[in-house]
Amino acid sequence: MRVLILGGGGREHALALGLAADPAVDHLIAAPGNPGIAAVAELRPVEITDPAAVAALAVEVQADLVVVGPEAPLVAGVADAVRAKGIACFGPSGAAARIEGSKAFAKDVMNAAGVPTARARAVVNPGSGVGAALVAQALDEFGAPYVVKDDGLAAGKGVVVTDDRSAALDHAASCDRVVVEEYLAGPEVSLFVVTDGETALPLLPAQDFKRIGDGDTGPNTGGMGAYAPLPWLPEGTVDEVMATVVHPTLAELRGRGAPFSGLLYVGLAITPQGPRVIEFNARFGDPETQVVLALLETPLAGLLHAAATGTLAGHPPLRWRSGAAVTVVVASAGYPATARSGDVITGAGRAGIIHAGTARRAADDALVSAGGRVLSGTGLGADLSTAREAAYALVAGIGLDGAQYRRDIAALAASNRLDTPQRI
Ligand code: AMP
Ligand code: GLY
Repeated sequence: MRVLILGGGGREHALALGLAADPAVDHLIAAPGNPGIAAVAELRPVEITDPAAVAALAVEVQADLVVVGPEAPLVAGVADAVRAKGIACFGPSGAAARIEGSKAFAKDVMNAAGVPTARARAVVNPGSGVGAALVAQALDEFGAPYVVKDDGLAAGKGVVVTDDRSAALDHAASCDRVVVEEYLAGPEVSLFVVTDGETALPLLPAQDFKRIGDGDTGPNTGGMGAYAPLPWLPEGTVDEVMATVVHPTLAELRGRGAPFSGLLYVGLAITPQGPRVIEFNARFGDPETQVVLALLETPLAGLLHAAATGTLAGHPPLRWRSGAAVTVVVASAGYPATARSGDVITGAGRAGIIHAGTARRAADDALVSAGGRVLSGTGLGADLSTAREAAYALVAGIGLDGAQYRRDIAALAASNRLDTPQRI
Protein backbone atom coordinates (compact mmCIF):
# COMPACT_ATOMS: atom_id res chain seq x y z
CA MET A 1 0.00 0.00 0.00
CA ARG A 2 1.23 3.51 -0.89
CA VAL A 3 0.17 6.04 1.74
CA LEU A 4 0.26 9.84 1.57
CA ILE A 5 0.05 11.65 4.89
CA LEU A 6 -0.83 15.32 4.93
CA GLY A 7 0.58 17.69 7.54
CA GLY A 8 3.85 18.29 9.31
CA GLY A 9 3.35 18.48 13.07
CA GLY A 10 3.92 16.15 15.99
CA ARG A 11 0.65 14.34 15.36
CA GLU A 12 1.73 13.64 11.78
CA HIS A 13 5.16 12.42 12.92
CA ALA A 14 3.46 9.98 15.32
CA LEU A 15 1.06 8.89 12.56
CA ALA A 16 3.93 8.50 10.10
CA LEU A 17 5.83 6.26 12.54
CA GLY A 18 2.72 4.12 12.97
CA LEU A 19 2.08 3.91 9.22
CA ALA A 20 5.72 3.13 8.43
CA ALA A 21 5.70 0.31 10.97
CA ASP A 22 2.72 -1.37 9.27
CA PRO A 23 4.09 -4.17 7.05
CA ALA A 24 1.29 -3.47 4.55
CA VAL A 25 2.85 -0.06 3.76
CA ASP A 26 5.59 -0.25 1.14
CA HIS A 27 5.87 3.47 0.45
CA LEU A 28 5.07 6.45 2.65
CA ILE A 29 4.94 10.02 1.37
CA ALA A 30 4.42 13.04 3.63
CA ALA A 31 3.38 16.48 2.47
CA PRO A 32 4.88 18.72 3.61
CA GLY A 33 6.18 16.57 6.51
CA ASN A 34 9.02 17.73 8.75
CA PRO A 35 12.66 16.76 9.40
CA GLY A 36 11.59 14.00 11.82
CA ILE A 37 9.11 12.52 9.37
CA ALA A 38 11.84 12.60 6.68
CA ALA A 39 13.45 9.59 8.39
CA VAL A 40 10.47 7.38 7.45
CA ALA A 41 8.82 9.06 4.46
CA GLU A 42 9.52 10.79 1.18
CA LEU A 43 8.67 14.49 1.65
CA ARG A 44 6.76 16.46 -0.97
CA PRO A 45 5.80 20.12 -0.83
CA VAL A 46 2.11 20.97 -1.17
CA GLU A 47 -0.34 23.66 -0.11
CA ILE A 48 -2.25 21.39 2.26
CA THR A 49 -5.44 23.48 2.26
CA ASP A 50 -5.68 23.47 -1.55
CA PRO A 51 -8.01 20.55 -2.38
CA ALA A 52 -7.06 20.42 -6.08
CA ALA A 53 -3.33 20.49 -5.33
CA VAL A 54 -3.59 17.71 -2.75
CA ALA A 55 -5.77 15.56 -5.02
CA ALA A 56 -3.28 16.03 -7.86
CA LEU A 57 -0.40 15.01 -5.60
CA ALA A 58 -2.32 11.92 -4.44
CA VAL A 59 -2.79 10.89 -8.08
CA GLU A 60 0.84 11.66 -8.95
CA VAL A 61 2.28 9.56 -6.12
CA GLN A 62 -0.26 6.79 -6.85
CA ALA A 63 -1.54 6.82 -3.28
CA ASP A 64 -3.81 3.98 -2.20
CA LEU A 65 -4.67 5.88 0.94
CA VAL A 66 -4.44 9.53 1.95
CA VAL A 67 -4.40 10.32 5.67
CA VAL A 68 -5.24 13.93 6.52
CA GLY A 69 -3.64 15.07 9.79
CA PRO A 70 -4.78 18.65 10.55
CA GLU A 71 -8.26 20.17 10.59
CA ALA A 72 -7.75 23.06 8.16
CA PRO A 73 -7.51 20.87 5.02
CA LEU A 74 -10.52 18.83 6.15
CA VAL A 75 -12.65 21.93 6.64
CA ALA A 76 -11.41 23.13 3.22
CA GLY A 77 -12.74 19.96 1.58
CA VAL A 78 -9.48 18.16 0.85
CA ALA A 79 -10.94 14.72 1.66
CA ASP A 80 -13.79 15.33 -0.82
CA ALA A 81 -11.31 16.23 -3.58
CA VAL A 82 -9.16 13.14 -2.92
CA ARG A 83 -12.19 10.81 -2.90
CA ALA A 84 -13.43 12.40 -6.14
CA LYS A 85 -10.26 10.96 -7.74
CA GLY A 86 -11.27 7.49 -6.57
CA ILE A 87 -8.58 7.40 -3.84
CA ALA A 88 -9.41 6.25 -0.30
CA CYS A 89 -9.07 9.05 2.21
CA PHE A 90 -8.96 8.89 6.00
CA GLY A 91 -10.69 12.07 7.11
CA PRO A 92 -14.19 13.52 6.95
CA SER A 93 -15.76 15.52 4.15
CA GLY A 94 -15.82 19.30 4.45
CA ALA A 95 -19.49 19.08 5.43
CA ALA A 96 -18.81 16.62 8.27
CA ALA A 97 -15.65 18.46 9.43
CA ARG A 98 -17.89 21.38 10.41
CA ILE A 99 -18.30 19.47 13.65
CA GLU A 100 -14.90 20.99 14.45
CA GLY A 101 -14.97 24.00 12.10
CA SER A 102 -18.00 25.59 13.74
CA LYS A 103 -18.70 25.34 17.45
CA ALA A 104 -22.26 26.53 16.81
CA PHE A 105 -22.82 23.68 14.30
CA ALA A 106 -21.38 21.18 16.79
CA LYS A 107 -23.78 22.43 19.49
CA ASP A 108 -26.70 22.19 17.07
CA VAL A 109 -25.79 18.57 16.21
CA MET A 110 -25.40 17.69 19.90
CA ASN A 111 -28.71 19.23 20.84
CA ALA A 112 -30.53 17.47 18.00
CA ALA A 113 -28.90 14.15 18.96
CA GLY A 114 -29.50 14.55 22.70
CA VAL A 115 -25.78 14.41 23.47
CA PRO A 116 -24.80 15.53 27.00
CA THR A 117 -22.87 18.80 26.76
CA ALA A 118 -22.69 22.26 28.34
CA ARG A 119 -25.67 24.57 27.82
CA ALA A 120 -24.65 27.27 25.36
CA ARG A 121 -25.70 30.38 23.44
CA ALA A 122 -24.31 31.31 20.02
CA VAL A 123 -24.02 35.05 19.40
CA VAL A 124 -23.20 36.85 16.14
CA ASN A 125 -21.49 40.26 16.12
CA PRO A 126 -20.66 39.99 19.84
CA GLY A 127 -18.85 43.34 19.74
CA SER A 128 -21.90 45.35 18.66
CA GLY A 129 -24.83 46.69 20.71
CA VAL A 130 -27.33 43.82 20.47
CA GLY A 131 -24.64 41.13 20.26
CA ALA A 132 -22.77 42.51 23.27
CA ALA A 133 -25.99 42.61 25.28
CA LEU A 134 -26.74 38.97 24.39
CA VAL A 135 -23.23 37.96 25.45
CA ALA A 136 -23.64 39.78 28.77
CA GLN A 137 -27.01 38.10 29.31
CA ALA A 138 -25.56 34.64 28.61
CA LEU A 139 -22.60 35.26 30.95
CA ASP A 140 -25.00 36.18 33.74
CA GLU A 141 -27.30 33.25 33.03
CA PHE A 142 -24.49 30.67 33.26
CA GLY A 143 -22.42 32.47 35.92
CA ALA A 144 -18.68 32.23 36.63
CA PRO A 145 -16.34 30.71 35.64
CA TYR A 146 -17.19 32.20 32.25
CA VAL A 147 -16.51 30.21 29.06
CA VAL A 148 -16.35 32.16 25.80
CA LYS A 149 -15.37 30.42 22.55
CA ASP A 150 -14.51 31.88 19.17
CA ASP A 151 -16.86 30.10 16.75
CA GLY A 152 -14.24 29.45 14.06
CA LEU A 153 -11.07 27.37 13.93
CA ALA A 154 -8.53 28.75 16.39
CA ALA A 155 -6.09 25.84 16.90
CA GLY A 156 -7.39 25.28 20.43
CA LYS A 157 -6.60 28.84 21.42
CA GLY A 158 -9.93 30.60 20.79
CA VAL A 159 -11.35 29.67 24.16
CA VAL A 160 -11.22 31.85 27.26
CA VAL A 161 -12.21 30.43 30.65
CA THR A 162 -12.12 33.13 33.30
CA ASP A 163 -13.72 34.45 36.48
CA ASP A 164 -13.19 37.97 35.16
CA ARG A 165 -16.43 39.11 33.55
CA SER A 166 -14.83 41.99 31.67
CA ALA A 167 -12.12 39.71 30.25
CA ALA A 168 -14.91 37.42 29.04
CA LEU A 169 -16.68 40.37 27.39
CA ASP A 170 -13.41 41.58 25.83
CA HIS A 171 -12.68 38.17 24.31
CA ALA A 172 -16.21 38.00 22.89
CA ALA A 173 -15.84 41.47 21.40
CA SER A 174 -12.65 40.39 19.61
CA CYS A 175 -14.48 37.60 17.69
CA ASP A 176 -16.98 37.63 14.80
CA ARG A 177 -19.17 34.93 16.31
CA VAL A 178 -18.94 33.37 19.74
CA VAL A 179 -20.43 30.59 21.79
CA VAL A 180 -20.90 31.38 25.48
CA GLU A 181 -21.38 28.30 27.59
CA GLU A 182 -21.85 26.80 30.99
CA TYR A 183 -18.65 25.80 32.80
CA LEU A 184 -18.11 22.05 33.09
CA ALA A 185 -16.25 20.98 36.22
CA GLY A 186 -14.20 17.79 36.21
CA PRO A 187 -11.09 16.20 34.73
CA GLU A 188 -10.80 16.22 30.94
CA VAL A 189 -10.47 13.21 28.69
CA SER A 190 -9.64 12.98 25.00
CA LEU A 191 -11.32 9.99 23.38
CA PHE A 192 -10.39 9.21 19.77
CA VAL A 193 -12.86 7.18 17.76
CA VAL A 194 -11.99 5.65 14.38
CA THR A 195 -15.13 5.45 12.28
CA ASP A 196 -16.34 4.81 8.75
CA GLY A 197 -19.54 6.69 9.51
CA GLU A 198 -21.41 3.67 10.93
CA THR A 199 -19.02 1.39 12.75
CA ALA A 200 -16.97 3.12 15.42
CA LEU A 201 -13.91 1.84 17.31
CA PRO A 202 -12.72 3.80 20.36
CA LEU A 203 -8.98 4.09 20.95
CA LEU A 204 -7.51 4.31 24.47
CA PRO A 205 -8.66 7.44 26.33
CA ALA A 206 -5.86 9.93 27.00
CA GLN A 207 -5.42 13.14 28.94
CA ASP A 208 -3.92 16.31 27.55
CA PHE A 209 -2.40 19.29 29.42
CA LYS A 210 -3.71 22.46 27.81
CA ARG A 211 -2.12 25.20 29.90
CA ILE A 212 1.45 26.38 29.44
CA GLY A 213 2.39 26.29 33.14
CA ASP A 214 2.81 23.65 35.83
CA GLY A 215 -0.30 23.10 37.92
CA ASP A 216 -2.51 24.11 34.96
CA THR A 217 -1.59 27.78 35.14
CA GLY A 218 -1.17 30.39 32.42
CA PRO A 219 -2.72 30.61 28.97
CA ASN A 220 -4.10 27.74 26.90
CA THR A 221 -1.84 26.15 24.30
CA GLY A 222 -2.32 23.48 21.65
CA GLY A 223 -1.32 20.94 24.34
CA MET A 224 1.87 20.59 26.41
CA GLY A 225 1.84 16.86 27.13
CA ALA A 226 -0.33 13.79 27.41
CA TYR A 227 -0.55 10.32 28.90
CA ALA A 228 -2.49 7.10 28.59
CA PRO A 229 -4.06 5.02 29.99
CA LEU A 230 -6.10 6.88 32.64
CA PRO A 231 -6.07 4.82 35.85
CA TRP A 232 -8.61 7.15 37.52
CA LEU A 233 -11.26 7.00 34.78
CA PRO A 234 -14.48 5.38 36.08
CA GLU A 235 -15.00 1.92 34.60
CA GLY A 236 -17.53 1.86 31.80
CA THR A 237 -16.88 5.47 30.77
CA VAL A 238 -15.83 4.60 27.22
CA ASP A 239 -18.89 2.40 26.68
CA GLU A 240 -21.11 5.13 28.07
CA VAL A 241 -19.56 7.75 25.76
CA MET A 242 -19.94 5.47 22.75
CA ALA A 243 -23.63 4.97 23.57
CA THR A 244 -24.57 8.51 24.64
CA VAL A 245 -22.25 10.60 22.46
CA VAL A 246 -20.59 8.84 19.54
CA HIS A 247 -23.36 6.74 18.04
CA PRO A 248 -26.06 9.45 18.37
CA THR A 249 -23.69 12.02 16.81
CA LEU A 250 -22.77 9.74 13.90
CA ALA A 251 -26.46 8.96 13.31
CA GLU A 252 -27.35 12.67 13.39
CA LEU A 253 -24.63 13.48 10.84
CA ARG A 254 -25.77 10.62 8.58
CA GLY A 255 -29.32 11.99 8.84
CA ARG A 256 -28.08 15.41 7.75
CA GLY A 257 -26.45 13.91 4.67
CA ALA A 258 -22.97 14.55 6.09
CA PRO A 259 -21.78 11.14 7.32
CA PHE A 260 -18.56 11.43 9.33
CA SER A 261 -15.75 9.06 8.46
CA GLY A 262 -12.27 9.46 9.86
CA LEU A 263 -11.28 10.31 13.40
CA LEU A 264 -13.88 11.75 15.72
CA TYR A 265 -12.10 13.35 18.66
CA VAL A 266 -14.41 13.62 21.64
CA GLY A 267 -13.16 16.12 24.24
CA LEU A 268 -14.95 15.37 27.51
CA ALA A 269 -15.23 16.64 31.04
CA ILE A 270 -15.95 13.88 33.56
CA THR A 271 -18.43 15.79 35.72
CA PRO A 272 -20.31 14.57 38.80
CA GLN A 273 -23.30 14.11 36.45
CA GLY A 274 -21.26 11.93 34.09
CA PRO A 275 -19.25 12.56 30.91
CA ARG A 276 -20.13 15.81 29.09
CA VAL A 277 -18.79 16.86 25.68
CA ILE A 278 -16.55 19.95 25.73
CA GLU A 279 -15.78 19.83 22.04
CA PHE A 280 -15.51 17.66 18.97
CA ASN A 281 -12.55 17.68 16.64
CA ALA A 282 -12.47 16.08 13.22
CA ARG A 283 -8.90 14.74 13.48
CA PHE A 284 -6.41 13.16 15.84
CA GLY A 285 -5.37 15.32 18.81
CA ASP A 286 -1.88 16.62 19.28
CA PRO A 287 -0.07 15.55 21.51
CA GLU A 288 -2.47 12.78 22.61
CA THR A 289 -1.79 10.89 19.35
CA GLN A 290 1.81 10.45 20.42
CA VAL A 291 0.80 8.39 23.46
CA VAL A 292 -2.23 6.60 22.02
CA LEU A 293 -0.39 5.36 18.92
CA ALA A 294 2.67 4.40 20.98
CA LEU A 295 0.41 1.87 22.73
CA LEU A 296 -1.49 0.62 19.65
CA GLU A 297 -0.32 -2.76 18.44
CA THR A 298 -2.83 -3.15 15.62
CA PRO A 299 -1.27 -2.15 12.27
CA LEU A 300 -2.27 1.48 11.70
CA ALA A 301 -2.56 1.67 7.91
CA GLY A 302 -4.92 -1.32 7.80
CA LEU A 303 -7.13 0.30 10.44
CA LEU A 304 -7.28 3.70 8.74
CA HIS A 305 -7.80 2.08 5.33
CA ALA A 306 -10.76 0.10 6.70
CA ALA A 307 -12.30 3.32 8.03
CA ALA A 308 -11.66 5.10 4.73
CA THR A 309 -13.27 2.32 2.69
CA GLY A 310 -16.34 1.68 4.85
CA THR A 311 -15.16 -1.77 5.95
CA LEU A 312 -14.52 -1.19 9.64
CA ALA A 313 -17.23 -3.70 10.62
CA GLY A 314 -14.96 -6.47 9.31
CA HIS A 315 -11.84 -5.19 11.10
CA PRO A 316 -10.45 -7.33 13.93
CA PRO A 317 -10.66 -5.93 17.49
CA LEU A 318 -7.88 -3.49 18.37
CA ARG A 319 -4.85 -4.78 20.25
CA TRP A 320 -2.93 -2.69 22.79
CA ARG A 321 0.47 -2.97 24.42
CA SER A 322 0.37 -3.30 28.16
CA GLY A 323 1.88 -0.48 30.19
CA ALA A 324 1.69 3.26 29.74
CA ALA A 325 2.92 6.12 27.57
CA VAL A 326 3.73 9.74 28.45
CA THR A 327 4.68 12.54 26.09
CA VAL A 328 6.18 15.89 27.12
CA VAL A 329 6.12 18.78 24.65
CA VAL A 330 9.08 21.14 24.33
CA ALA A 331 7.96 24.59 23.19
CA SER A 332 9.99 27.52 21.96
CA ALA A 333 10.70 30.74 23.86
CA GLY A 334 7.66 33.02 24.01
CA TYR A 335 5.04 30.34 23.25
CA PRO A 336 2.01 30.60 23.23
CA ALA A 337 1.90 34.40 22.85
CA THR A 338 4.67 34.52 20.27
CA ALA A 339 7.00 31.76 19.23
CA ARG A 340 10.66 32.34 18.52
CA SER A 341 11.99 30.37 15.55
CA GLY A 342 15.45 29.67 14.21
CA ASP A 343 17.11 28.33 17.39
CA VAL A 344 19.46 25.40 16.85
CA ILE A 345 18.22 22.08 18.27
CA THR A 346 20.43 19.24 19.46
CA GLY A 347 19.59 15.75 20.69
CA ALA A 348 16.52 15.38 18.49
CA GLY A 349 17.49 12.24 16.58
CA ARG A 350 16.76 9.69 19.31
CA ALA A 351 13.93 7.14 19.20
CA GLY A 352 10.94 8.58 21.04
CA ILE A 353 11.60 12.16 19.96
CA ILE A 354 8.70 13.44 17.89
CA HIS A 355 9.25 16.48 15.67
CA ALA A 356 6.62 19.22 15.37
CA GLY A 357 7.94 22.74 14.68
CA THR A 358 11.39 21.84 13.36
CA ALA A 359 13.08 22.73 10.08
CA ARG A 360 16.41 22.42 8.30
CA ARG A 361 18.27 25.73 7.99
CA ALA A 362 18.97 26.42 4.32
CA ALA A 363 22.52 27.68 4.87
CA ASP A 364 23.94 24.63 6.65
CA ASP A 365 21.15 22.04 7.05
CA ALA A 366 21.23 22.50 10.85
CA LEU A 367 18.05 21.47 12.68
CA VAL A 368 16.31 24.60 13.97
CA SER A 369 13.04 25.47 15.68
CA ALA A 370 10.19 26.59 13.43
CA GLY A 371 7.11 27.21 15.51
CA GLY A 372 5.60 27.10 18.99
CA ARG A 373 5.56 23.43 19.86
CA VAL A 374 8.94 22.21 18.63
CA LEU A 375 9.31 18.58 19.72
CA SER A 376 8.00 16.09 22.20
CA GLY A 377 9.58 13.17 24.02
CA THR A 378 7.41 10.06 24.22
CA GLY A 379 8.34 7.49 26.84
CA LEU A 380 6.91 4.01 27.31
CA GLY A 381 6.99 2.03 30.53
CA ALA A 382 5.40 -0.73 32.54
CA ASP A 383 3.41 1.95 34.35
CA LEU A 384 2.90 5.71 34.24
CA SER A 385 5.83 6.42 36.58
CA THR A 386 8.37 4.63 34.43
CA ALA A 387 6.87 6.02 31.21
CA ARG A 388 7.16 9.50 32.75
CA GLU A 389 10.79 8.96 33.66
CA ALA A 390 11.50 7.80 30.12
CA ALA A 391 9.77 10.84 28.60
CA TYR A 392 11.60 13.30 30.86
CA ALA A 393 14.93 11.59 30.17
CA LEU A 394 14.34 12.16 26.45
CA VAL A 395 13.41 15.81 27.00
CA ALA A 396 16.43 16.39 29.25
CA GLY A 397 18.66 15.43 26.33
CA ILE A 398 17.24 18.15 24.04
CA GLY A 399 19.27 21.30 23.52
CA LEU A 400 17.14 24.33 22.55
CA ASP A 401 17.79 27.86 23.72
CA GLY A 402 14.80 29.25 25.65
CA ALA A 403 12.97 25.89 25.66
CA GLN A 404 9.88 25.62 27.86
CA TYR A 405 8.26 22.42 29.06
CA ARG A 406 6.02 21.41 31.91
CA ARG A 407 7.54 19.40 34.75
CA ASP A 408 4.24 17.90 35.91
CA ILE A 409 2.93 15.95 32.91
CA ALA A 410 1.16 12.82 34.26
CA ALA A 411 2.63 13.47 37.72
CA LEU A 412 -0.63 13.25 39.67
CA ALA A 413 -1.89 10.20 37.78
CA ALA A 414 1.47 8.42 38.12
CA SER A 415 1.40 8.81 41.89
CA ASN A 416 -2.29 7.88 42.14
CA ARG A 417 -3.19 11.31 43.47
CA LEU A 418 -6.17 11.71 41.13
CA ASP A 419 -9.45 10.53 42.58
CA THR A 420 -11.97 8.71 40.44
CA PRO A 421 -14.79 11.25 39.89
CA GLN A 422 -17.89 10.23 41.85
CA ARG A 423 -21.38 10.33 40.37
CA ILE A 424 -24.05 12.31 42.15
P1 AMP B 1 -11.97 23.76 23.30
O1 AMP B 1 -11.19 24.47 22.23
O2 AMP B 1 -13.45 23.85 23.14
O3 AMP B 1 -11.45 22.39 23.55
O4 AMP B 1 -11.61 24.47 24.67
C1 AMP B 1 -10.27 24.53 25.11
C2 AMP B 1 -10.22 24.25 26.59
O5 AMP B 1 -11.03 25.19 27.32
C3 AMP B 1 -10.78 22.90 26.97
O6 AMP B 1 -9.85 21.88 26.83
C4 AMP B 1 -11.14 23.14 28.42
O7 AMP B 1 -10.00 23.07 29.23
C5 AMP B 1 -11.64 24.54 28.41
N1 AMP B 1 -13.10 24.55 28.24
C6 AMP B 1 -13.80 24.65 27.11
N2 AMP B 1 -15.13 24.60 27.31
C7 AMP B 1 -15.29 24.45 28.64
C8 AMP B 1 -16.43 24.35 29.51
N3 AMP B 1 -17.69 24.41 29.04
N4 AMP B 1 -16.21 24.19 30.81
C9 AMP B 1 -14.96 24.14 31.31
N5 AMP B 1 -13.86 24.25 30.57
C10 AMP B 1 -14.00 24.41 29.24
N1 GLY C 1 -4.53 18.46 22.18
C1 GLY C 1 -5.74 19.10 21.83
C2 GLY C 1 -6.07 19.08 20.41
O1 GLY C 1 -5.43 18.44 19.60
O2 GLY C 1 -7.04 19.74 20.04
